[in-house]
Amino acid sequence: MKIPFGDLSRQYKVYKKGFDTIISGVFEKGNFILGENLLKFEENFARYLGVNHAIGVASGTEALFLALKAIDIKNGDEVITVANTAIPTISAIDFAGATPVFVDIEENSYLINPELIESRITSRTKAIIPVHLYGNPCNMDKIMQLAKNYNLNVIEDCAQAHGAEYKGKKVGTFGDFAAFSFYPSKNLGANGDAGMIVTNSKELAEKVRLLRNYGFEDRYKSVIRGFNSRLDEIQAALLDFKLTKLDYWNKRRLEIAKKYMEGLESLPLILPEIKPDTSPVFHLFVVRAKERGRLIGYLMKKEIAVLIHYPIPIHLQTAYEFLGYKKGDLPVTEKLSKEILSIPIFPELENKEIDYVTTSIKKFYS
Ligand SMILES: Cc1ncc(COP(=O)(O)O)c(C=O)c1O
Repeated sequence: MKIPFGDLSRQYKVYKKGFDTIISGVFEKGNFILGENLLKFEENFARYLGVNHAIGVASGTEALFLALKAIDIKNGDEVITVANTAIPTISAIDFAGATPVFVDIEENSYLINPELIESRITSRTKAIIPVHLYGNPCNMDKIMQLAKNYNLNVIEDCAQAHGAEYKGKKVGTFGDFAAFSFYPSKNLGANGDAGMIVTNSKELAEKVRLLRNYGFEDRYKSVIRGFNSRLDEIQAALLDFKLTKLDYWNKRRLEIAKKYMEGLESLPLILPEIKPDTSPVFHLFVVRAKERGRLIGYLMKKEIAVLIHYPIPIHLQTAYEFLGYKKGDLPVTEKLSKEILSIPIFPELENKEIDYVTTSIKKFYS
């Protein structure tokens, strides 16, 4: 049996009629940018999360970038985040002109360790970007308290956590802003690039709306220095339809995660932990294996696709050498990057495929 890491053609097989009708509907109307589909999706996405405003943009990276611009991040400002994240979290900080400042992660959640944030705050710190990585919510109580004490902005990176909850509230509703990615393989994915910024602040929402469209208050009337970062009508219409399936898809991801957890229970693998005050959405199913290299080789032979999220922590990436970090600066991040491994999880993964993955891993350890 061949198990892909993801397979969006399976989603198309299920929803072909719906997708085709939506796409031809947009073509028939002939409006492709900033139209009614975007407005509808923005409204529905804001309602889904329980926030006042949602602003569609071109990608998750640009959602982070424009959120930073909206809080007037300037050259030399510092933004606290983690090195165990996707590169774009850092690209956005870097392109906004700020300096990313890395904090180590918790050994059991692989997320930002809130206990270590305070020691990294300086007079230049402007914001914290907690990343709800793999679909797991960060400890928002502690982060928001610190932000309040030091008067910092919080931008949640929710690229991997659509629908995840912390203490019964959706992630993305805690900070000043949250950034979502709709990269195709995300829990809510477009069929191209797309992203969203959400906020409860009317003023910040208005600023982001200007920023994403050349600062246009009116056609050809630019009131602030802006940019082009828009979520197009085809993607918006598809995403609005897919939003109605998100809870169902997340439920299936959780079901798959539970099957993996049962099946892999007594092996010398560290499995994901679900914290009592969180409802994760399992964008990824990440295990830890001391003998990762051998396990990957074995799974490749079994034709099971696996990936590592992420093999090189950002503070050790060539592109970010200029930040001046060295090996050993983030010991937990570095240790975990050598042991973590993501096994396939996506809503259309079949039970027989899940069984094949668990049986194969069991055989490796037998
Ligand atoms: C944690 C994280 N942040 C930001 C992004 C950027 O999103 P996008 O690919 O839509 O620019 C991604 C996805 O790639 C991500 O996983």
